[in-house]
Amino acid sequence: MNNVAIIGAQWGDEGKGKIVDLLTDSADIVVRFQGGSNAGHTLVVNGEKFIFKLIPSGMLHKNKICLIGPGVVIDPKGLLDEMANLEKHGYPVDSLKISGTTHVIMPYHREMDVLLEQKRGAKKIGTTGRGIGPAYESKIGRRGIRVWDLINPEQFKQKLMDIVIDVNDYVKSVFNHKGFDIDKIYDEYSVYGEKIKKYVVEGPLFLNNEINKNKKLLFEGAQGTMLDVDHGTYPFVTSSNTTAGGICTGSGVAPTKINEIIGVSKAYTTRVGEGPFPTELFDETGNKIRSVGAEFGSVTGRPRRCGWLDLVALKYSVMINGLTGIAITKADVLDGIGKIKLATSYSLDGKKIDYVPSNLPEFERCKPNFEEIEGWKTLTGAKDTQSLPKEMKNYIKYIESYTGVKVYILSIGADREQTIVFKNPFKG
Ligand code: GDP
Ligand code: IMO
Ligand code: MG
Repeated sequence: MNNVAIIGAQWGDEGKGKIVDLLTDSADIVVRFQGGSNAGHTLVVNGEKFIFKLIPSGMLHKNKICLIGPGVVIDPKGLLDEMANLEKHGYPVDSLKISGTTHVIMPYHREMDVLLEQKRGAKKIGTTGRGIGPAYESKIGRRGIRVWDLINPEQFKQKLMDIVIDVNDYVKSVFNHKGFDIDKIYDEYSVYGEKIKKYVVEGPLFLNNEINKNKKLLFEGAQGTMLDVDHGTYPFVTSSNTTAGGICTGSGVAPTKINEIIGVSKAYTTRVGEGPFPTELFDETGNKIRSVGAEFGSVTGRPRRCGWLDLVALKYSVMINGLTGIAITKADVLDGIGKIKLATSYSLDGKKIDYVPSNLPEFERCKPNFEEIEGWKTLTGAKDTQSLPKEMKNYIKYIESYTGVKVYILSIGADREQTIVFKNPFKG
């Protein structure tokens, strides 16, 4: 048994897609278990760039199965567009599988996401507007539409009718909205259902059968630990469990079946959307990181907020996810930056603390305390431990000694090739 998970250790966009693509070589099946098309996972292979939203980031590899698990919320039109785009670029998607129990994002979810953000005004969350929160609300409220419904026309029609009548009551009274046309949605979505039907499977059964055949699974997290609906900076979070617990609920694979959990962290920190971010930089250094690191959202194009690496938050991520390894990405972005800062504790109302307070107003009052270490000049051309500058090696050692977890992978450029693997989690 050799199953590995990749989890965002920060606020998302850590470079998970790149790490998943890299490790797919050693895996048989890649599984997305939460999130939806709020995710934007960028892969660069031989200079060609792909942004994966719903399809697992293993799809560029031949003979690997990619499965969308029950914990994901699917926008079927977005999914079909993504499939078509890959096919157009010469990457067939025949090996895609979708769990029948996966929930579907409906047009009213997308619209409600936007309306709710408008209603929040200054207290907005800064969502991606993809209908994620409302779709998960429907799921937890037991009025969701699942892929099984979508691909069975009679079942779909009945459910849609019951649900949209209630949705319309709600949007008419709360938003003065004209309501949604059931027939129009039915016509559009039953076509999507027909198109995705051949990919639909009993997801958990399939995965567990494959595990019993000793196949290797790679779980691909979306978003990051600090955006987890239970363990993140609530309410400035996404609406799913982005942390390790979400792997099991979102795939139907038990915790006893997962051997390694790798947290991905940038060599610094970014965040898109609203909410607290203790190490955020508002100066020239922050601007430099944003421009050198091309820190603009892969889904919405919004500039990402940038700051120093927050080791307190990273250690929290180690605890919540039980990380067994860390992948550090975008180290090249800090080339030549001079002294590098790392937050090693917070000051909260004059008291020094070394944990992430879960009461939001307390976290908002946390001021970071930094340690400074010498930066490296350049990582260009580095291929292995020996060729890394000593300052980079020190940076890695510092992270390892603070978190108590080994750095398995170092990424020094967007391309698949620009990676140094100290330890491959599939290879024991
Ligand atoms: P994800 O959502 O966690 O998969 O990350 P994103 O794809 O949203 O954001 C990461 C961005 O950084 C993408 O544009 C990647 O191509 C890029 N990237 C990943 N690793 C590296 C790296 O080591 N160096 C540089 N310069 N860019 C990287
Ligand atoms: P990947 O998988 C970074 C953020 C949004 C917003 C909050 C809630 O590419 O790392 P949502 O649309 O999910 O209801 O928005 O979460 N967010 C992300 N930030 N990377 C992501 O995904 C994100 N997905 C959602 O900006 O603050
Ligand atoms: Mg992203």
